[in-house]
Amino acid sequence: MKKSSYLVMITLIGAFGGLLFGYDTAVISGAIGFLETKFGLDANMKGWAVSSAILGCIIGVALAGYIADSIGRKKTLIITAFLFAISAIGCAVAANFTQLVVARIVGGLGVGAASMLSPLYISEIAPAHKRGMLVSLYQLAIVIGINIVFFANYMIAGSNTEQWNIDLGWRYMLGSETIPAILFLLALFFVPESPRWLSKKGRDVEALDVLSKINSKEIAIKVHFDIKAVLGQEKGTLSELFAPGLRVAMVIGIFLALFSQITGINAIMYYAPEILKGAGFGVDSALMQTVIIGVINTIFTFVAIKYIDKLGRRTLLIWGVSGMIVCLLAIGILFQTGLTSGPWLLIFILGFVGCFGTSLGPIPWVLISEIFPTKNRGVAMSLAIMVLWIGVWLISQFTPVLLENIGAGYTFWLFAFNAILLLIFAVKVIPETKGKTLEEIEKSWTKK
Ligand code: GLC
Repeated sequence: MKKSSYLVMITLIGAFGGLLFGYDTAVISGAIGFLETKFGLDANMKGWAVSSAILGCIIGVALAGYIADSIGRKKTLIITAFLFAISAIGCAVAANFTQLVVARIVGGLGVGAASMLSPLYISEIAPAHKRGMLVSLYQLAIVIGINIVFFANYMIAGSNTEQWNIDLGWRYMLGSETIPAILFLLALFFVPESPRWLSKKGRDVEALDVLSKINSKEIAIKVHFDIKAVLGQEKGTLSELFAPGLRVAMVIGIFLALFSQITGINAIMYYAPEILKGAGFGVDSALMQTVIIGVINTIFTFVAIKYIDKLGRRTLLIWGVSGMIVCLLAIGILFQTGLTSGPWLLIFILGFVGCFGTSLGPIPWVLISEIFPTKNRGVAMSLAIMVLWIGVWLISQFTPVLLENIGAGYTFWLFAFNAILLLIFAVKVIPETKGKTLEEIEKSWTKK
């Protein structure tokens, strides 16, 4: 197999974790109505059905860094695939609501762990000049996962009677994840361990071997030499992450993770049908528009994939977030003035999603997977992405509350305000990392 095809193959397998991420977080939206009737859920229990997986994610990501640093990236990814499969089967056969919640938490552990492992793994195998593009494939997989599940839910619910759906439909929806989970598990046996983790463990012959499968012999030797030069003897510690120098990287990671969420993307992804219905659209057209939103998100992720290593992360982020701000302000104005019935609302929502897809969708994964030193990367990524999951939880919990109490107009202006803070932060603090090796990025923090 050609080196470039081999690289693409192992990247796609690594990115598959994203597909399960998208699948798992979105599947509940289609199942929740049926679960409500089946188990007689009140508002509190309904909240649990949705947020239990997110709770699992927060725990999963917190543990994954340590585990990946000690037993390796590949083995930890295999564990996540197991968790996905067990959770999907557990949900499908759950005898009562408690069992279902437990199975969702188990799935969440997998999603959370994979959300740091997949980008970490891809970033550590990728050659510097393609790294942005390859890690962005992870975001593409998330978006495709979300689209597949919307479609699967729609097909399952649409082609059966209401009663069948209440009895069995949700079991098929949640259980259908077993198929991608098992595919992921099997495919993982074909990927090599990360060369950077191998080097860190002193397994240099194996590390060089993996690097040579991806790069020419000379480049493999040079990359290996650079990896060893920055690794040093000492173990990475948590306190190092907050020492001067690296502290900036940690702040960037955490800030990006949080603001990728509190600028509102999942308010749209999870609540679009509600928001559109509230704006006066019929149920069918609201569902159709949700599908269009997913398609636009996918198309614009391809734009990011094409340009992220050419224009750079910083440029894409600054332009993308600027576009998001304009759209969010406009959406707020439409709601405040009651002009939501024409085409403009959808146009600005799509504009927002498109700008997100080219920038704030993939860029946090790319930057968070490349800005930390190899010896601390696992733990640092865990910390930053844990904050991302807390952001996911905040938005899924409080969007309905905000919509009800301050209205859609102010809710979108609040997201716009957060996006403005992010823009200022990006302009002032975030450096350009395109084309640099992980080791060059690592050295740049301590040089300052
Ligand atoms: C990013 C976000 C995730 C969101 C997705 C939508 O991956 O982290 O929360 O659902 O984009 O495209």
